[in-house]
Order: sequence, then structure tokens, then C-alpha cells
Amino acid sequence: MKFSPWLGRVAALYDSKRKDFNWRLAADGVIHHHNGLVFDRAAYMGRIKKGGAAADLAVHAAETALSRFGFKYLGRPHAGARLLDAGCGRGGSSLLLAKKYPALAIRGVTLSSYQAAAARAAAKAAGVGRRAVFRRASMLALPFRPETFDLVWACESTEHVPALKVFFSETARAAKPGARLVIIAWVRNADHAAGRRYAALADKAYVTAIHPEAEYLRECAGTGWRLAAKADLTAPTAAYWAGRLALKSGSGTEAFMAPAFASRALVYRLYAYDLAE
Ligand SMILES: C[S@@+](CC[C@H](N)C(=O)[O-])C[C@H]1O[C@@H](n2cnc3c(N)ncnc32)[C@H](O)[C@@H]1O
Repeated sequence: MKFSPWLGRVAALYDSKRKDFNWRLAADGVIHHHNGLVFDRAAYMGRIKKGGAAADLAVHAAETALSRFGFKYLGRPHAGARLLDAGCGRGGSSLLLAKKYPALAIRGVTLSSYQAAAARAAAKAAGVGRRAVFRRASMLALPFRPETFDLVWACESTEHVPALKVFFSETARAAKPGARLVIIAWVRNADHAAGRRYAALADKAYVTAIHPEAEYLRECAGTGWRLAAKADLTAPTAAYWAGRLALKSGSGTEAFMAPAFASRALVYRLYAYDLAE
């Protein structure tokens, strides 16, 4: 399968992230590639100050808290429901979902062949390899029949999509009428003077094309997806990044990601959409 030059760059980025920061945090075998949520900042910073494994565990727990927060917006899947993990990384959220809902069938796609293999290995090790299946494919041209999925989960993957309309149209094609889509995303604050500057720094480091909120609200039009709920997670994710900034060693992006969220030049949003019946 040949990807466009842009998607090829995204794939290369994730192919290269192996024994990286995210891997270091994942002592439980659940590797995340997303922000965390911190609701008790004092307790979290206390654990960060301890350094070493205690600090890593605190960061990882915050990332798992983000997944669990987002799952609430999926609702309770009915028996036999099928979920698409659109931009699944190394399968972290899918593994949590597979354990939480023993009757849920999960299909994950990532641009990275390394990530797809790592997610498959993690699912097998967790005993959910038959229900959580991962492959290298683009969520902009999904290898699935129309009306396959009841649920779509896109956690920090739409930042990599240059044109959101294509994402909304393609997931609408693969989803069943009445399906629920949950997007969690870094969003550029169009009303903040430093929004473009921080978005450009992140775009360069992560091969993203961070969108302003207006695009998440506008580009679903005509695709069948309708916004049903949204949440602003900027404050709890700014606390998470403050902890990362205080780590002895992080991923290297903390110096601009922490102030980006602390100042709200970037905001962290959850959007839930329903597909027209
Ligand atoms: C920041 S990581 C998030 C991974 C995971 N959702 C998580 O929360 O840990 C971004 C993921 O989106 C995937 N991605 C980006 N664009 C994609 C596309 N067009 N099709 C499939 N996956 C894509 C990348 O391959 C990567 O796995």
C-alpha cells in the first residue's frame, strides 16, 4: 500500500519511535501516545518530584486517565458491537477497551507497520488478540466495508490529517447509522495571539497540521456526523504537561508543549459526534 508523501512522513515518524519515552512509561504493557489528564495537581507533582519510576508511573496513570475519561463518551457498547480505533498507535486505548468490554470487537489502523505489529503483539500478550486486531492502513481510505462500525475512537490522530472533511467522510462511510465517533485532539486557539506560533512548533516536531476548533465544527457538515457533545480538557492536560516539564528526562517537546497548554494557545478538546440514522 502506497501512502501520499505526507502520510509517508507520519508513518516514518511512528516507525522510528520504538524504545522511546512512551515505551519507557508503559511498565504495564499499555503504550499510549497521547496527553494525560491530572485532576489533583498537588498529588501528581509530589509523585513527579520523587523522580524515577514513581514519576514515570504518575505520567502514565494520567495518560490512562485520559483514555478512561474519553471512553465515557463512547457509551456502553452493546453485545457484539464493533469499534474502529482510527490511528491506534501501539494499541494502548484498544487494549483497555478490550479488557473493559469482553464482547467488543476492535479493529485498529495506524500508518506505521511497526506500530501495527507492536499493537498485535501487545493484544496477544494481554489475551485479547482475537478481538483486537491491528493493521497498517490509512483511516482516510479504510479497508472496511460500509456500515461496519458502531463506534469510532480517534485519540490524537486527527491532528495528522490535513483535510478533516476526508476523515469525517471516510469514517461516516465505514460507520453504521447511529454510530458514535469520539475525537480527542490538540486544537489551535484561534483567539490567542500565540496560537499559530505554538501550533507551528508542534506541527514541526510531530508532523501534524493542528486545526482550529472551527474546522472540527464545520468539516463534519454534509458527512452525516453531527456534534453531540464536547469537553474542554485544557486545564487537566496543562497540569499533566507541567509534570512532564519537571521530569529529569522527557520526550524533548515539553519546553513548548507545557507553555502552549498552560497559556491556552493550544487547547485540548474532546468532540463526540453521532451519525445520522
Ligand atoms: C499521537 S498517535 C496516537 C495513538 C493512539 N490513538 C493513542 O492515543 O495512543 C497518532 C496515531 O495516528 C496515526 N495516524 C495518523 N494519521 C493516520 C491515518 N491517515 N491513518 C491511520 N492512522 C493515522 C499514527 O499512525 C499514530 O498511530
